Amino acid sequence: MITKVRKAVFPAAGLGTRFLPATKAQPKEMLPLVDKPLIQYGVEEAMHSGVQNIIIVTGRGKSAIEDHFDVSFELEQLLESRNKKDLLATVRAVSDMINVAYVRQKEALGLGHAVLRARELVGAEPFAVILSDDVIDSDTPCLRQLLDVYEFYGASVVALLEVPKENISAYGVVDAERVGHNGGRDRLYRIRNMVEKPKANEAPSNLAIIGRYVLTPEIFESLESIEPGSGGELQLTDGLKHVLRSRPIYGYRFEGTRYDAGDKLGFLRATVEFALKRYDLGEEFRSYLKALPL
Ligand code: G1P
Repeated sequence: MITKVRKAVFPAAGLGTRFLPATKAQPKEMLPLVDKPLIQYGVEEAMHSGVQNIIIVTGRGKSAIEDHFDVSFELEQLLESRNKKDLLATVRAVSDMINVAYVRQKEALGLGHAVLRARELVGAEPFAVILSDDVIDSDTPCLRQLLDVYEFYGASVVALLEVPKENISAYGVVDAERVGHNGGRDRLYRIRNMVEKPKANEAPSNLAIIGRYVLTPEIFESLESIEPGSGGELQLTDGLKHVLRSRPIYGYRFEGTRYDAGDKLGFLRATVEFALKRYDLGEEFRSYLKALPL
């Protein structure tokens, strides 16, 4: 029997230095893509993948995230008294849609360290990890795609994306072999090894890990037993590499478009493309862009 994944962990304690000064007094997870904070895209992806219990790993200065997923009594009253039914529904949907718990990461000691902070709340069951910097637009939510693989094999699964060589050093990179799955789709890999942020000429492939993981609970033991790695931080990739010694791990080259919203250019791309897709803004925004003297 394969245990169902019920919980998703959102590391959100980073300092957001790439977006200063916008992130001086505001968490980067709250930066809006069009009109929705980054983290809400990830939370909705978890929800649409069938995972309703959200664990957010926060740090100092992140209370706006907690307020965002809480009931805003005054705001709801105001919208109700002004008969703004649509806005009221939008605002309520955020607090109604999930169960959310918070845990603090007191120091930013790496992604592996952040995941380890969620250990008590996760317990001894499989769980998902979503990095809200990676925004993924797809027909089937990316996490759902990984869960389908997990539900078949009962093993950990990471999201993979082919990345140009000049960018590969920004990622965890896998050495992997293709496997057939459900009629031999060519997106599934069995991972042989992985390395966090390798030099371009030392990368084992062009397949980068993107911020979606389904993890079995052995990862916690592994993270406890390894030493800090790249950048002096406890790396999730190193923890997974340790798990590989005793268990298989799969990679899935997901279908969809990924935006690196943790990067200024990536954030702008996501903003433009999401706005163009909006039924209420797309048309006007498209004509505006077309009229620009580029
Ligand atoms: C993290 C992970 C890395 C992964 C990346 C995906 O790195 O450590 O393995 O490839 O997310 O976005 P970060 O972007 O936090 O440096």
